Amino acid sequence: MIHKSGDWFFISTKNTSYVMRILDTGHVMHFSYGACIGHDAEGLEYIHDGFDVNVGCCTYYDEEHPRMFMNNLSMEYATVGKGDTREPAVDVRYSEGLSTLDPVYYEHRIFKGKDLGAVPCASADEDNVETLELVLKDKVVDLFIHLFYSSYEDEDVILRSTRIVNRTGSDVVLENVASLMLDFSDCNWELLSFDGAWARERNITRRKLHPGITVIDSKLGCSSNEHNSLVYLVRSDSGPDYGEVVATNLIYSGNHSERIDVGPFSKLRLVTGINPFGFSWTLADGESFTSPEAVVTYSSSGWNRASANFHSFIRKYIVRGKWRDRERPILINNWEATYFDFTEEKLMDLAARAKDLGIELFVLDDGWFGRRADDRSGLGDWVCNRKRLPGGLEGLGRRLHDMGLMFGIWVEPEMVNEDSELFEKHPDWRVSIPGRKPAVCRHQYVLDLSRKDVVDHLFSSLSSVFESGCVDYVKWDMNRTMSDYYSASGRSSGMGGFFHRYMLGLYSLLQRITERFPDILFEACAAGGNRFDLGMLCFMQQIWTSDNTDLHHRIGIQEGTLMGYPQSSMGAHVSASPGHQSLRKSSIESRFNVACWGAFGYELDLAKLCAEDLEAVRGQIRFYKKYRPVLQSGIFRKVVSSDDNLVFWASTLGKTTIVLEYQILNRPNTGVQDRLRLPFLNRSGVYRVEARRQIIRAEDLGDLSKAYGKTVSEEFSVTISGSLLCDYGLCLGPQFAGNGFCDGTRVLGDFGSRLYVVEEIG
Ligand code: DGJ
Repeated sequence: MIHKSGDWFFISTKNTSYVMRILDTGHVMHFSYGACIGHDAEGLEYIHDGFDVNVGCCTYYDEEHPRMFMNNLSMEYATVGKGDTREPAVDVRYSEGLSTLDPVYYEHRIFKGKDLGAVPCASADEDNVETLELVLKDKVVDLFIHLFYSSYEDEDVILRSTRIVNRTGSDVVLENVASLMLDFSDCNWELLSFDGAWARERNITRRKLHPGITVIDSKLGCSSNEHNSLVYLVRSDSGPDYGEVVATNLIYSGNHSERIDVGPFSKLRLVTGINPFGFSWTLADGESFTSPEAVVTYSSSGWNRASANFHSFIRKYIVRGKWRDRERPILINNWEATYFDFTEEKLMDLAARAKDLGIELFVLDDGWFGRRADDRSGLGDWVCNRKRLPGGLEGLGRRLHDMGLMFGIWVEPEMVNEDSELFEKHPDWRVSIPGRKPAVCRHQYVLDLSRKDVVDHLFSSLSSVFESGCVDYVKWDMNRTMSDYYSASGRSSGMGGFFHRYMLGLYSLLQRITERFPDILFEACAAGGNRFDLGMLCFMQQIWTSDNTDLHHRIGIQEGTLMGYPQSSMGAHVSASPGHQSLRKSSIESRFNVACWGAFGYELDLAKLCAEDLEAVRGQIRFYKKYRPVLQSGIFRKVVSSDDNLVFWASTLGKTTIVLEYQILNRPNTGVQDRLRLPFLNRSGVYRVEARRQIIRAEDLGDLSKAYGKTVSEEFSVTISGSLLCDYGLCLGPQFAGNGFCDGTRVLGDFGSRLYVVEEIG
């Protein structure tokens, strides 16, 4: 709900309030963002310390306002040049290079639903969403700043974006336009960011904030595996279930930047949007520029609540199409099973084994097209290689459909190899600077999607592939980042517009393709998780999380990913042991227990599995199908563990909660029993807790196999009251280990795990 009362604006959701105030100078002050406050709360003005610092040489606004120090004022959208030297939200050059702006309240409107902008944006329904468009205008020139705020009542989410409208009579150049700026009246926050590189994406970094600017950003031309645009500000005493949290993300897939400035008066400012690095956008008189949208949520009860807010918002308002609410199929992907070394018969053999185990979708990965025999050639030529697939994609697709499997294929449309027909015909379509040798990555180059002819070509060549091949699913890969920034299309915005124009070209292609093929389930991918963001999720219902499927590394990767993105969007596969990325040996049951928290599949040669592992896989698929709605769409929570060696996750839907218990390293004879405490359950309920039956391979127990004497895990089924589970926790029993004398019932070992089904039965 949005309400204006005198000089105050209140944007409210179910549990939060965002408050702004128009000062007598016309400046819009950011007053507060936090727990819900009433519109008429008495003494509201006293919760903020204002801007009144009593020091000698601070620049003040004017002689009528001698105590108005812009550098200590909590602003709604800061500009340059009037005394606020903290990180600005907007930076513009007008009238021969001037940058000083002094925008004040001009007008506003409040309406149901929201405007749908040009770049991908969240959808809205009028019952749940209201929007405030707050227009500021510079005191001197006709430059207008439109600030949009949409309140998503049920999800406790506020969406922000900015539109700059130029009516100055001449060109202006935008050097920076933030989607969101948020001022806090103190700096006692810590930052959680989601960082890494290939094969170790989105691991959580927690850091204290000190005076100065901390920057989280991407300059790779995509949202990047180095730093996700998701950031959390958390109170130092906060955790999964307690403490204040403000979390933001961008609906954007290109270069982004999140700047956190702890200013001279210990206030904190967060500014997020398109990265000003490599950005410069010329607006002619009468033109406007709209930023990507930023999503922000607040929780007074820890990180789990904030991530749950994001999850429900994304499921409902970001993900689209027929697959939005459908259960995602269990897939087999041939990449780690065969790499480039496959024939149609080899694929059919893998498919037959998969079908027999209960798998639902067969995905043919890289290598089916053009001259592609390895990663040096073929990208750009989206025509089936009939030497490999004599019946073409349609032949293979038909055979798989006849078998009762869905059919999926891999493409990497944004790229080209020099060794390809496309490059021979259109060398100028690749991103490179005339007269310079472009940098290479995986022997490939980026196509210039800022050009309409390139986008048109890709639309028609991909359309023929998707039409011909009975295609049910597409994995859309992107395996390199940008270099040699240049577009031969010579747009008026010059190279400063290159990165963003590339994104607009990509989005227009995705828009056309997804409209043309509404039945296809799309999975984005970028050398694993190099483009895991809300922009891609507006078109593609799921994203490949990481090429690293090692169960232990996936604990960190998935835990970070789930802080911002729902389980249904997170591709997770069981692959071979030893793992191809880590060489780690692990049991297939434990690999499943970690992978089943997302859009799930297998990516290994099923012909190489022993009988015990095949039996395990059959059981896993039965389990996943039974609990798929809980695992894909339940409320995900990180569960606090009293022991750093143990990780617990939970996902709840209705009366069912699935819990993961994951042990890092086995420690003999600790004398402590592991304990599961689920503080979010219904205290007055009664629960049955059962462990999933797991196959135990004799080989994994070695000499202790005889002493254990079983090939399946010990049954574990207890009935316990909700209050005991919430407040005390359930002892999970001693672990089996040690000279064959220990009678412990649980077999975990290093990187071992169990799944529990917790059912409310009364
Ligand atoms: C990178 C992806 O992340 C992998 O899953 C696989 O599709 C390869 N590309 C194929 O080249």
